[in-house]
Amino acid sequence: MRELGIGIIGTGFMGKAHAFAYRGALAAFPDIPVPRLEMIADVTAEAAAKAAHQYGFARSTADWRTLVNDPRIDVVSITTPNTFHKEMVLAALAAGKHVHCEKPLSPTLQDSAEMVKAAEARGVVTQVGYNYIKNPLLKLARDMIAAGELGEITGFRGIHAEDYMHDSESPYTWRLDPSGGPGVVADLGSHIIGMARFLLGPIAEINADIRTIVPSRPVAPGSKERKQILVDDVARMLVNFERGCGGSLEATWVNTGRKMNLAFEVTGRKGSLVFDQERFNEIHFFRAGGDSRQAGFTKIEAGPQHVPYGAFCVAPGHQIGFNDLKTIEMSEFLRAIGEGKRSSPDFREAYEIQKVVETAVSSSKQRQWLKIA
Ligand SMILES: NC(=O)c1ccc[n+]([C@@H]2O[C@H](COP(=O)([O-])OP(=O)(O)OC[C@H]3O[C@@H](n4cnc5c(N)ncnc54)[C@H](O)[C@@H]3O)[C@@H](O)[C@H]2O)c1
Repeated sequence: MRELGIGIIGTGFMGKAHAFAYRGALAAFPDIPVPRLEMIADVTAEAAAKAAHQYGFARSTADWRTLVNDPRIDVVSITTPNTFHKEMVLAALAAGKHVHCEKPLSPTLQDSAEMVKAAEARGVVTQVGYNYIKNPLLKLARDMIAAGELGEITGFRGIHAEDYMHDSESPYTWRLDPSGGPGVVADLGSHIIGMARFLLGPIAEINADIRTIVPSRPVAPGSKERKQILVDDVARMLVNFERGCGGSLEATWVNTGRKMNLAFEVTGRKGSLVFDQERFNEIHFFRAGGDSRQAGFTKIEAGPQHVPYGAFCVAPGHQIGFNDLKTIEMSEFLRAIGEGKRSSPDFREAYEIQKVVETAVSSSKQRQWLKIA
């Protein structure tokens, strides 16, 4: 069976998730090319070596360019802060590698356009880390919508709310650096925009109100020196989809108490679906009609009947986890490479998501509806 040499740049939250996913992919999906854990990179040799030992990579480096140019590496995963994505992606593409890049693809639409162009010119397989749509129940929701189970879709209410920035004393991090993007509208907003597109298709126009709630933060943990915040904390967006229905999307990282409220309610004339990532092994379905005394939302619990749940666990209701979603994502990516096909969501889809993000920012500045060009 074909082997693919894997290189990961970055060993933080996502670097570890990618490592878990590549390690577990073959156990869950025996048909994919065999991922060979070749090299991992970080800013210091110590951090990289520690990660290589911990995650089972053969080699490590403090120089990401060594990794992208290594002849034994076929696939590069980029899990560094957003500001580094473009340079690393373009170098990996120039070296002929298949590239997985974390979301958002880049700080600006212009950068994303360049990355799409370079990837498509190279003809390699690309993927971007929109892992939440890899949930088998999200695929079920999309299939149910497409099959008309909900009837004509009349609305979509989507949100991605967390609270990791709610404390005004939490210090400055790379997520607050405007060179990495406009703020939560890209950091979390891109997930709910991507999810809305996955379920209902393209967004045609948008009217956004985007705000910075915390004006300054300590430059470092415990520091009295403060830095002005130039990125947003909350984005509220009214949207109209190309298919005709309207909806709302919200992204916030200051919703005190919320940990992973990536949620939606999609309503149609014949039924509704309600989902929340905080309980992502279930989705609630309401079917209109029938005996009104028995009417109510039915909880659908994930099980092996929701492919590929059974690749992880034969027992329904036992639940899969965040790293399993990442494993599904990486397996699809590796399978696409093996079969010479496009993977999804690829750089082009990430560019379309970025387009919505950037139009939302412009709409908020101009205080008006704008078409997604
Ligand atoms: N898909 C998701 O659900 C999800 C979740 C969190 C973060 N992300 C995305 O993943 C990316 C990273 O986020 P994170 O939370 O893992 O960040 P993190 O801060 O935990 O990790 C970033 C890593 O990159 C390393 N790094 C920085 N500069 C580097 C360089 N020049 N060379 C090599 N390594 C370098 C850091 O040392 C660190 O190990 C971001 O783009 C973020 O938006 C995606």
